[in-house]
Amino acid sequence: MKDFVFHNKTKIYFGKDIIKNLNEEIAKFGKKVLLVYGGGSIKRIGLYDKVIKELEKANMKVFELSGVEPNPRHTTVNKGADICKKEGIDVLLAVGGGSTIDATKAIAAAAYYDGDCWDLITHKAEVDKTLPIVSVLTLSATGSEMDGGCVISNIETNEKYGYFAPDNNPDVSFLDPTNTYTVNAYQTACGSADIMSHVFDMAYFTKEDQMEMLVRMQEEVLSTVVKYAPIAIKKPDDYDARANLMWASSWALNGFLFDGLSQSTVCHAMEHELSAFYDITHGHGLAILTPRWLSYVLDEETAPRIKRFGVNVLGVNPSLSDIDGAKDAIKALEKFFFETLGLKSRLSELGIDDKDFKAMAEKACRFDVLHGFTDLTPDDVEEIYRMCL
Ligand code: NZQ
Ligand code: ZN
Repeated sequence: MKDFVFHNKTKIYFGKDIIKNLNEEIAKFGKKVLLVYGGGSIKRIGLYDKVIKELEKANMKVFELSGVEPNPRHTTVNKGADICKKEGIDVLLAVGGGSTIDATKAIAAAAYYDGDCWDLITHKAEVDKTLPIVSVLTLSATGSEMDGGCVISNIETNEKYGYFAPDNNPDVSFLDPTNTYTVNAYQTACGSADIMSHVFDMAYFTKEDQMEMLVRMQEEVLSTVVKYAPIAIKKPDDYDARANLMWASSWALNGFLFDGLSQSTVCHAMEHELSAFYDITHGHGLAILTPRWLSYVLDEETAPRIKRFGVNVLGVNPSLSDIDGAKDAIKALEKFFFETLGLKSRLSELGIDDKDFKAMAEKACRFDVLHGFTDLTPDDVEEIYRMCL
């Protein structure tokens, strides 16, 4: 096991009606706030009015940036940064899902950069300062509410890149599971697949030595999603189910589950190309890729961990051989994503054919190799895309 540093600066308010604490928290950061949100769901669910009331209580001067897209665009980030520069914004308030929070993180950095935010996303320029960020989460999926990641798309160049920086974490996040009651079955399924994939990609499917406690915690987060996602889909206002998914979202990617692993996030690298080229929902791409990727990398060395996942998370028979147990685990995962959660299982069903696979595979590997459970070359990645057709 490796040495590691664990540091997470985000203060969390969790529970029903915790929004009542927003006024005192936001006021700590100054007087001028840029409220950032997506395509209007926060107005439809009545959250916008509650947030505005809190900002009025805190005597904040409110500026707004609405219309953040799923797979947020760098052009939207630039718009937000311009408002910050022009108006002298003190603090950013993101209200929404991962896309809104990610865009807000990029705005927080771009507000101090004299140029196109795309330079920061692609590391042509380094982030050296960020505005404070407060978030109100409305969709359990990405972990953006408690991590330093942000993923931004440049739709003109078919590129979607992200970066992680500890300073990018929200300073405070408000997690009220009732704000996710209106997330539809499809987004609940996609978000649940995303949570699982963070555990798989960042930590669980590895050949590196890990602390057993962390492996068990990873399995607990995975099992939590397997138990509660179907309940949330059947009964959208089940508080326990929504609460468990929300906290699983945060803990899957807040750093606690990883002890210094150095591998690439393989399925995420492959999926970000799908979203970049076809603007699909991130979690759906992951659900389609993950079982095919596991089948592709299955061998004597990878089988024990895949089987362990099947046995401890999906109820696979422990007395099977490693290879047979691993095969059953992959089948059970397919059943969970495509039958229980009801997600379409093939890229062709999302209107995707193989014409861009070569370019996508090269970009996913950055023209070299994806280091992971098994290292993947662009040819391997292209083959995995084909298995998903
Ligand atoms: O735009 P609005 O109107 O708000 O509607 C959204 C959007 O259409 C809707 N929605 C959100 N909360 C809702 C709701 N609808 C009804 N009721 C609510 N309470 O859901 C749709 C999807 O929202 P979005 O924010 O795009 O989803 P998600 O949270 O899954 O975020 C996906 C983005 O995060 C990135 C993904 O790549 C993708 O761009 N990721 C960010 C990560 C990070 N920051 O660490 C890691 C992840 O691996 C991921 O890459
Ligand atoms: Zn993800």
